[in-house]
Amino acid sequence: MDVFDAIHNRHSQGKVKQDPVPRQVIEKLLDAAVQAPNHYKVRPWRFVVLTGEGRQRLGEVMAASQWERHPDFPPEAFDKCRGLPLRAPVLIVVGVDKPGEPKVLEIENVCAAAAACQNLLLAAQAMGLGAKWRTGEWARDPKVKEFLGFGADQHLIAFLYIGYPEFVADYPPRPSFEDRTVWIE
Ligand SMILES: Cc1cc2nc3c(=O)[nH]c(=O)nc-3n(C[C@H](O)[C@H](O)[C@H](O)COP(=O)(O)O)c2cc1C
Repeated sequence: MDVFDAIHNRHSQGKVKQDPVPRQVIEKLLDAAVQAPNHYKVRPWRFVVLTGEGRQRLGEVMAASQWERHPDFPPEAFDKCRGLPLRAPVLIVVGVDKPGEPKVLEIENVCAAAAACQNLLLAAQAMGLGAKWRTGEWARDPKVKEFLGFGADQHLIAFLYIGYPEFVADYPPRPSFEDRTVWIE
C-alpha cells in the first residue's frame, strides 16, 4: 500500500473481530514502530503486547484499582473495567523511558514514542488491520503501570487496540492543514 493511502485511509477502528492476529503480523507492526526517528538514538519506546489471557489479567488489575479508588461503585462498573482490554485480540501498551542523561529530554522521548505509535498504526492500516489508540485514566494508573512493568513516573502514551476490522466505513475527508499553517517566505 502506498504510504499516502495508508495515511489518508487510517481511521480509529474501535470495533474489531476477536480473530487472533498471528504473532508474525504483530512482530511486523513492532518492527515498523521501531523505525521511528528518535533523538540520540535512545530508542525510548517500550512495548507490552497483551493477547489471550494476558488481556484478562490486565482487566483484573484495572477492576481492582478502580475498586480501591471507588469502592462505592456498583458491581457493573467493575465488570465493565474487566472487559476493557478484551475489546480487541491484541493490545499493545506503549510506555516511554525516562531520560538517562541530561542531554536527553523527556518531551523528545515522548515525541519519539508517539512517532513509533503512528508508524505502527500506519503499518496496521497497510496490513488490513483495524486499530485504535486509546489512553484515558488507565494510562496514569499506578497499579496498571506496575503490572505492565513501568515505574510510577513513566508515561504510558498509548493503549493500541488491534484486530481485523468488523467493517470498513467511509469517512469524510479531514479538515485541511491550511488554517493550521503559516508560511514564512
Ligand atoms: C494520545 C491519544 C490518546 C487517545 N485516547 C483516546 C481515548 O482514550 N479514547 C478514544 O476513544 N480515542 C482516543 N484517541 C483517538 C482519537 O480520539 C482519534 O484519533 C481522533 O478521534 C481522530 O480520529 P481518527 O483516529 O479516526 O483520525 C486518542 C488519540 C491519541 C493520539
